[in-house]
Amino acid sequence: MFWSVLFPIYVVVLLLCFNLESPGLLGLAASEGGGNVKDQQALLEFKAKISNNQLGILRLWNNTVYYCQWYGVSCGSRRQRVTQLVLESQHLTGSISPSIGNFSFLKVLNLKNNSFIHEIPQEIGRLRRLRIYHLAANSIGGEIPRNKWENLTFVRERIIFGETFSTFKKLVGVIPETLGQLKRLTFFSVGLNNFSGTVPSSFCNLSNIRTFDIGDNYLEGSRGANDLNFPCSLTNARMLRRLSINENNFGGSTPECIGNLSTDLLHLNLDVNEISRTIPATIGNLINLEPLTIWNNQLSRAIPSVIGRLQQLQEFKAQNNSLSEGIPSSFGDLKMLISLNLSHNNLQGSIPSSLVVPYLPK
Ligand SMILES: *[C@@H]1O[C@H](CO)[C@@H](O)[C@H](O)[C@H]1NC(C)=O
Ligand SMILES: *[C@@H]1O[C@H](CO)[C@@H](O)[C@H](O)[C@H]1NC(C)=O
Ligand SMILES: *[C@@H]1O[C@H](CO)[C@@H](O)[C@H](O)[C@H]1NC(C)=O
Ligand SMILES: *[C@@H]1O[C@H](CO)[C@@H](O)[C@H](O)[C@H]1NC(C)=O
Ligand SMILES: *[C@@H]1O[C@H](CO)[C@@H](O)[C@H](O)[C@H]1NC(C)=O
Ligand SMILES: *[C@@H]1O[C@H](CO)[C@@H](O)[C@H](O)[C@H]1NC(C)=O
Ligand SMILES: *[C@@H]1O[C@H](CO)[C@@H](O)[C@H](O)[C@H]1NC(C)=O
Ligand SMILES: *[C@@H]1O[C@H](CO)[C@@H](O)[C@H](O)[C@H]1NC(C)=O
Ligand SMILES: *[C@@H]1O[C@H](CO)[C@@H](O)[C@H](O)[C@H]1NC(C)=O
Repeated sequence: MFWSVLFPIYVVVLLLCFNLESPGLLGLAASEGGGNVKDQQALLEFKAKISNNQLGILRLWNNTVYYCQWYGVSCGSRRQRVTQLVLESQHLTGSISPSIGNFSFLKVLNLKNNSFIHEIPQEIGRLRRLRIYHLAANSIGGEIPRNKWENLTFVRERIIFGETFSTFKKLVGVIPETLGQLKRLTFFSVGLNNFSGTVPSSFCNLSNIRTFDIGDNYLEGSRGANDLNFPCSLTNARMLRRLSINENNFGGSTPECIGNLSTDLLHLNLDVNEISRTIPATIGNLINLEPLTIWNNQLSRAIPSVIGRLQQLQEFKAQNNSLSEGIPSSFGDLKMLISLNLSHNNLQGSIPSSLVVPYLPK
């Protein structure tokens, strides 16, 4: 009895939902939800700024299909507002329309690996629900002014403006201090740009960060005795897995606090900087490191024997420094080691018998 009453209601609701997604009822949906027409217009404006779409996917953005079903577009089921715009690797050229700022429900913006040119529009700062912001490998240039980031305090997961496969090296200016407010951020990757200045001390508040990649920029440590003191601000990041500050202008000595980074750290890349003095013995705390790369720096004195505690170490590249004294026999404890480069240093003595180096010339 109960079910026979409920069942027809259920069917009606289902049909209604279904019809809402058909183009014929767009007007109705817009007047109820309030935002649909606005989102559709914003999508069309976004499309209008794209001058070339070789793969032709934007031809599919036409009125015969409800916009929530357009290629790369996803909407929330309740309000029918655009929540994701994912147009990765689509050969798109042109600029990113300022209408992007009208997608007030957008959570994921992924325009990775296209050829968008010009600057990132100011309006991006209005996307208060953005969780993932992925623009890597485009030709976007210019500065990201502070105020463009300032309203991005809701970016929860990822900010990606550069990636190793790209030749993208265009964003300039400083990394804004306000980014330190993104407490929920887990992934920060702005490598392969032309950012300069220091890493803001506010980054000590990024306690959820797992990947931090600022490699290949013109960044430096804060001025003072301990030029490389920025990693100290990441000692609160207990989930840090990957830290890459390679190919920048960091100088001064490696701070002891490097050993206070998360013991879950897997990747540490400090190569091609101007880091001097010793490799601190506290490095021995980072027992899960797999690659440790410090080549092309000015590190001197002995390699600390605590290196033998890094039982997961697979790659140790320390070539082209001024490391001296003998090669610690504790290298022999590193059962996972597959790549070791100590060339172009001032090391002396013999290769410890404990160390099996498969690629030594026979
Ligand atoms: C986007 O929002 C701005 C300001 O709210 C408005 O002037 C503009 O017409 C909107 N554009 C679209 C496509 O809705
Ligand atoms: C409009 O989009 C549909 C599919 O989304 C596609 O089949 C159709 O060819 C498109 N129309 C035009 C004129 O390109
Ligand atoms: C970038 O996009 C092009 C064109 O779609 C594709 O062939 C290439 O594999 C993509 N590269 C990556 C790294 O995703
Ligand atoms: C940031 O938000 C404030 C308050 O909502 C607004 O006045 C300002 O214009 C926004 N900034 C940007 C760059 O959108
Ligand atoms: C980024 O740096 C490279 C290398 O120094 C330079 O050739 C290029 O012009 C710079 N780009 C911008 C946008 O400043
Ligand atoms: C970290 O966040 C707290 C609380 O929001 C704030 O008071 C403090 O100034 C921030 N630290 C830095 C260095 O910005
Ligand atoms: C690093 O940890 C040690 C011992 O756990 C502590 O004494 C020291 O103050 C810490 N240093 C920094 C810079 O956090
Ligand atoms: C060693 O590093 C310096 C910069 O620190 C660089 O100029 C030089 O080319 C490097 N030499 C080798 C052999 O890699
Ligand atoms: C070790 O480093 C030197 C100096 O940069 C380089 O010439 C050599 O090719 C490297 N060897 C290996 C096996 O990577």
